Amino acid sequence: SRTVRRDADGVVTVGGIDVKTLAEEFGTPAYFLDEEDFRARCRAWREAFGTGADVYYAGKAFLSRAVVRWLTEEGLNLDVCSGGELATALGAGMPAERIALHGNNKSTEEITRAVEAGVGRIVLDSFQEIARVAHIAQRLGKRQRVQIRVTVGVEAHTHEFIATAHEDQKFGIALAGGQAAEAVRRALTLDGLELTGIHSHIGSQIFDMAGFEVSARRVVQLLTAVRDEHGVELPEIDLGGGLGIAYTSDDDPREPHEIAKALGEIVTKECEAAGLSVPRISVEPGRAIIGPTAFTLYEVGTVKELEGLRTYVSVDGGMSDNIRTALYDAEYTVALVSRTSDAEPMLSRVVGKHCESGDIIVRDAFLPADVAPGDLLAVPATGAYCRSMASNYNHALRPPVVAVEGGAGRVIVRRETEEDLLRLDVG
Ligand code: LLP
Repeated sequence: SRTVRRDADGVVTVGGIDVKTLAEEFGTPAYFLDEEDFRARCRAWREAFGTGADVYYAGKAFLSRAVVRWLTEEGLNLDVCSGGELATALGAGMPAERIALHGNNKSTEEITRAVEAGVGRIVLDSFQEIARVAHIAQRLGKRQRVQIRVTVGVEAHTHEFIATAHEDQKFGIALAGGQAAEAVRRALTLDGLELTGIHSHIGSQIFDMAGFEVSARRVVQLLTAVRDEHGVELPEIDLGGGLGIAYTSDDDPREPHEIAKALGEIVTKECEAAGLSVPRISVEPGRAIIGPTAFTLYEVGTVKELEGLRTYVSVDGGMSDNIRTALYDAEYTVALVSRTSDAEPMLSRVVGKHCESGDIIVRDAFLPADVAPGDLLAVPATGAYCRSMASNYNHALRPPVVAVEGGAGRVIVRRETEEDLLRLDVG
C-alpha cells in the first residue's frame, strides 16, 4: 500500500498510524485497507478511460458495503456474480443501472432479482441462459440489456485455474465453429432481450497486453460479422478484467492509462478497417483496484528452525485467510513490522495454523534470524481474493477488514465470532 511507511526508527505506520497500535486496537490476523489509496485507484481508472468508456469494479475481488459506497462516489460501475454480491451492491446504494450481473450458472432467482431491480447489464454465458433470461424478462414485462460472453481462444499466460479464454474451460460461448454467431442470432430474435454488445474476459494476473489485443481484435471481428449478417451495429464491447499487480518485485504491472490507450487504439484501428463505428468500451478490473490497497497483519506464534532446510514461522492465520498460495502457487512477500532487527536474514517459510502442510502463506522469504513469538508480520497486496475467498476451515474465525483513513482505523467487516459460527449449526 502506498501509505505504508517505515520511519528512521523503524516504526511502521499506515495512514499515519503505528502498526502496533493497529494490532492492539483491532487484533490479528486482520486486513488493513487504505481507503484513500482505493479511491485514488478508482479515480485513476476512471480518468484513464474517460467519459467514452465504463469501468466496472469486479466485486468478487472484495466487496462490502463501504466498498460499494466508495465505488458509487468515485463514479465506477460494479460487476457482481452472485445473488449475495447483488444484494450487497443494491443494499449499499449502487444504482441498479450501474450493475452488471455475471456468472456461468446464474439461478432463476438471481436472474429474476437482477431483472426486477433493473440492472444495467446481464452477461449471458450459455445458450440455455439466453433463453432463460429472455423468458424471465418477458414474464416481468421488461426488455433486459444483455451482452454475450464469448471465448476468444487466446492463451493468457497465467495460472491454469485463472485463465479463461482458451477453449477447454467452462466460461463463455466459443467464437470458434460459429457458436458465438449463433448465440447472437438467437439473442437478436428474443423480445425479452436487448443485445447491446459482446464480452470477453481472458484471465487474471496478466501483464502482457498481447492477449487483450488479440481478444479486442476478435471481438471487433464478431461485431463486423454481426453487422454484415443482421445490419446491426452492436454499440458496446467489454474486455473484462485480469490486469496484474505487483506481488513481488519481479512483477511489472501496466498503469490504467497505458491499458486504456492500448485498448482504445486497437479497437479504433480494427473498427476503422471494417467501417464500423467505434463501440463504447468497458473493462472490469478487480485485483488491480483493490489488491495493492490492503495488507494482512499477523502475529508470530512459534518458530521452528529445520537444520539445513529453512525456518518455519507460524502465524495466527493461514490458508483460511489467504488460500492463494496453496491454490495457485501465488507469491507474496513479508516484512517484520513491529520492530527493527540487525539479525542475519534467514530463509523462512511463513505458515499458518491449519492442520495441513500445504497451509503456506509465503513460500520463501528472508526474515531476520531473531524473529520470535509476538513479532508482527505484514503481508502486502492482500486486498484481492483473500478476504473474499476466506473460509472457516478448522472453524477458523474470518478476520476483520479495517479501513484506515485520516489517521484512524474503522472496521468495515467485523471479525467473526464463535457465536457467528455456532449460529449456523442448528443440529
Ligand atoms: N471479469 C470477469 C468476468 C471475471 O471473471 C473476473 C475474475 C474479473 C472481471 C476480475 O478479474 P481481476 O481483474 O480481478 O483479475 N481467485 C483468483 C482470481 C479469479 C478471478 C475470477 N474472475 C485469484 O485469487 O487470483
